Amino acid sequence: MIRSFPLLLLLATLPAWGAGPRPGSHPDHRQPLALSAEEAAHLRLEMRLFLNSVQKIVTAAAHQDMPVVAEAARESGLVAAHQVPPGLRAKLPLEFKKLGHATHEAFDDLARDAESMADGGLALKQLGRLMQNCVSCHATYRIGPAR
Ligand code: HEC
Repeated sequence: MIRSFPLLLLLATLPAWGAGPRPGSHPDHRQPLALSAEEAAHLRLEMRLFLNSVQKIVTAAAHQDMPVVAEAARESGLVAAHQVPPGLRAKLPLEFKKLGHATHEAFDDLARDAESMADGGLALKQLGRLMQNCVSCHATYRIGPAR
């Protein structure tokens, strides 16, 4: 009983790790994007396509199924970017567009290398690197009016 005390203490502190700040305990410093409902829906749809590609790439790479990796990556490549309505494009800050463009390009690069090199490990490394764009854009912008 006595000997398991340090372990119990460790377990008791576990939930605190990675929990981050409590929701609402910090002000939201992300830059707001004032979009119409339709524009916001378009952006969110594009995001869910990104997530869909990520899920398929991870699963297919784990099975060394490189044609599926390439196909899934291409679905989030520049082909998808060209469908952005001009009104929405005009409202997005230049930095946002650059980051978005770089992300689509990185998916195309991943698709090309998946086809030519057929290396699941490489595809996952490339995915990890391109997902830094997901993380940094999400840390910087949000949809909605200024608070
Ligand atoms: C250039 C900026 C940018 C990049 C790059 C980006 N996102 Fe987003 N994403 C956003 C914004 C802005 C929102 C809306 C956040 C909010 O206000 O709720 C969003 C929301 C989302 C959502 C929620 C969609 C919904 O239906 O509500 C998902 C999922 C998502 N992003 C996935 C991704 C993934 C995966 C990547 C990378 C492969 C990615 N995003 C890259 C800007 C970006």
